[in-house]
Amino acid sequence: MKKLERFLGGIKTLAVLCLQYGDTGKGKFVDLFAKWAHIIVRGNGADNAGHTICYKGKKLITHIIPSGIMYDNVGKTNIVGSGCAVYPKTFKGELLGLDAIGCSYNNLRIAHNAKLILPDHIVMDRIKELNNSGVKIGTTGKGVGPVFADHTARTGLIMNDLLNKDIFVKKLRHHLIDKVRILKTYDTEALKKVMSHEHLENGIYFDAKNIFNEDVIIQKYLDYGQDFNLMIRDTDEFIRSQAGKTEILLEGAQGLLLSVDEGASPHVTSSNCSLSGLSKGAGLLDSSQVDKCLGIIKGFYTTRVGEGPFPTEFGASESDKWCNGVGSRKQELELYPLASVNDVNQFLRGVAYRREGDEYGATTGRPRRTGRLDLPLLRYSLQFFNPAYLTLILTKLDCLNDCEVIEICDQYKYVGPDFRVGEKILRAGDYLNKAIMIREVLEYCQPIYSLHEGWLCSLKGISKYENLPKQIRIILNYLVAQTKVDLGILSIGADRNANVFI
Ligand code: IMP
Repeated sequence: MKKLERFLGGIKTLAVLCLQYGDTGKGKFVDLFAKWAHIIVRGNGADNAGHTICYKGKKLITHIIPSGIMYDNVGKTNIVGSGCAVYPKTFKGELLGLDAIGCSYNNLRIAHNAKLILPDHIVMDRIKELNNSGVKIGTTGKGVGPVFADHTARTGLIMNDLLNKDIFVKKLRHHLIDKVRILKTYDTEALKKVMSHEHLENGIYFDAKNIFNEDVIIQKYLDYGQDFNLMIRDTDEFIRSQAGKTEILLEGAQGLLLSVDEGASPHVTSSNCSLSGLSKGAGLLDSSQVDKCLGIIKGFYTTRVGEGPFPTEFGASESDKWCNGVGSRKQELELYPLASVNDVNQFLRGVAYRREGDEYGATTGRPRRTGRLDLPLLRYSLQFFNPAYLTLILTKLDCLNDCEVIEICDQYKYVGPDFRVGEKILRAGDYLNKAIMIREVLEYCQPIYSLHEGWLCSLKGISKYENLPKQIRIILNYLVAQTKVDLGILSIGADRNANVFI
């Protein structure tokens, strides 16, 4: 704890966010710093995120409730901020989950202006992904794209609407007119199937004639409104009033490379996962109110869930196809029990990385695509931060204990057709040090790797930098030299205390 206190000296507002494609183990650090903070606030995303929380030895996977909830009994406030979208069924399910493990949530708040996920958002998200005519994104199917699209199009609803029956009914009916018109162009049986899903309350919202049974939606959502009645507050105002006075932890969701503004569209999520998106969505005026930002990456590898270019992927398209289509954790174990992180077969090497890192989605259970650490992408991410306020955390280093060689992508060689990027023309054979976040460019980027000796030993029990294997220190020095980033913490195990502060 002393090291932690030193690390946090003088800080009032701390942000934790991922610099890759999410799933970098933010939860562990949010958990660690939640102990320090008085207010823990999520500022972006929805129930597309997922993290496991432990409360008195019991585990619970949450998707929207901030991880600090397990400290509720010591008077902390947990907030789902205005930059988030909330699906009431998920939220209620998580409250019931907390009840089941005996964790109280008296101080849980939802921003009154958080976006409200309605059944049509989920239907639209899922039916679009099923329909082969569009670009497949591999969404989590939680309605995230449609709810944020409606927010921007000014046709969405907010959590506060649940507290005003007449307004809710009027807005919902109006909202559904266009949705029904569009959904009527789809096959009714396909719609019925999508809507029969448990996530859509097993078909209760379906109506064969009108697509949606509005009365059922109204009843159900107003009931949810009653359940959350005391939690829905003007949290933006609260956060603004507390900024600089009390310890606030901003909990990012997803990762910068999935951010709607910073990522390579269309393979992104629909909220802004950057520091500025997180700050604004948490209720701060802007990111200048954040004293320190902890940017998280995986120690020397990368994962990605869903579709989209991934230049350093082990096993390239074979892995992509497997993870986005047929693969599952169980199948992998049965088919590839002997896959090794040193396998010459790149696909199998990726399987082994997945297994070592337990890289299976907390939200969807999908196998995550695995690849090497990608410095062009990291350099891209780093430019969105003031280096004076950014500290890097590397997680999961212990997952690579058996790797004989660590490959790091230093730069890309562009191998595609001539491509205009603003005033420049990218030509085959050009080298890129920093990624260009345009899908059509990334698809033609060939990684150039440097090879680094692995450490081939356990990291268990190490708490000091100087006690780390020299091979790790060499790679870390290389990383700093290549990116000029400040290193803060290395995570060398799932345990809350398995960290090396630098
Ligand atoms: P959506 O956010 O469900 O619309 O999905 C858009 C893309 O972001 C898909 O590729 C998802 O797999 C990815 N995505 C969304 N949330 C997460 C997350 O928490 N971790 C990793 N990937 C995510």
